[in-house]
Amino acid sequence: MSNVNPEAIKRIQERHRKIGKRMSKIEHKIAVLSGKGGVGKSFVTASLASALAAKGRRVTVLDADIHGPSIPKLLGVHGQNIFAGPDGLIPVETEYGVGVVSLDFMLPSEDTPVVWRGPLKTNAIGELLAEVNWGDLDYLLVDLPPGTGDEALSIAQMIHRMDGALIVTIPTDLSRMVVEKAVVFAKRLRVPVLGIVENMSGFTCPDTGKIYYIFGRDGGKRMAAEMNVDFLGSIPIDPRISESNDRGIPFFVAYPDSGASRSFLDIAERIIIKVEGTARKAPS
Ligand SMILES: Nc1ncnc2c1ncn2[C@@H]1O[C@H](COP(=O)(O)OP(=O)(O)OP(=O)(O)O)[C@@H](O)[C@H]1O
Ligand SMILES: [Mg+2]
Repeated sequence: MSNVNPEAIKRIQERHRKIGKRMSKIEHKIAVLSGKGGVGKSFVTASLASALAAKGRRVTVLDADIHGPSIPKLLGVHGQNIFAGPDGLIPVETEYGVGVVSLDFMLPSEDTPVVWRGPLKTNAIGELLAEVNWGDLDYLLVDLPPGTGDEALSIAQMIHRMDGALIVTIPTDLSRMVVEKAVVFAKRLRVPVLGIVENMSGFTCPDTGKIYYIFGRDGGKRMAAEMNVDFLGSIPIDPRISESNDRGIPFFVAYPDSGASRSFLDIAERIIIKVEGTARKAPS
């Protein structure tokens, strides 16, 4: 143990203490994860944050996906800078009242890739957790990197006492193994699985009204039942989702009358009821 630097240990302990103090002021902490990439995890995280803000909850999103930070783009704040206040870094706020913290705000240019390895990435998230003035929040949503490996695990472990993990998947992604992995991941974190959101379920042809189940049908529901976790609902494929994501406008704001918006808002309500016990009324 002779080569352990006591200064380094002191720094880690101090950071731990700081994170604990900051996190104690946050009512609900939710990790959003998926078995694999590209299934719409960041879209669900960003939309859920905007829905929570619209219902009067104080919410901030931590974009913990260091290699592909997409939350700022999805929430319309890409390219902004993060500033320091007297009590730490201040989250960037979206037009819809969502706080956003992402490494994206600190990169010198759009095409700067982050080439750090595991420990450095974990360290960067630790620094953010300790140095951001999260304030008193109802919700902290954490968009984890894709997968359920060690990196996602160590990032999630730094956030004390998570309320739950939300699993996003597409129907074909729902092999037993993928869901099992996500459930095991949540267990290792000692957090309950809030449920499964099935994204990209069916596509309704605008010309004929016929529904095509491009990635399969009801896979999410079946697997949730088999794994004994809640099925929170499904969101169809809708090209307008991709378009509004690119514009940084919440889909349910841009296309409130679409079936996908209604499905998504039902899911958001189910999550709120599950997390808070009963849904509070939005302030008028
Ligand atoms: N239901 C949907 N219908 C149409 N397009 C969608 C839908 N859900 C997500 N998309 C689009 O699919 C792409 C991937 O979504 P997103 O970035 O949210 O996935 P992800 O799981 O976070 O990916 P990564 O693993 O890279 O972080 C985006 O371009 C998004 O706009
Ligand atoms: Mg993502």
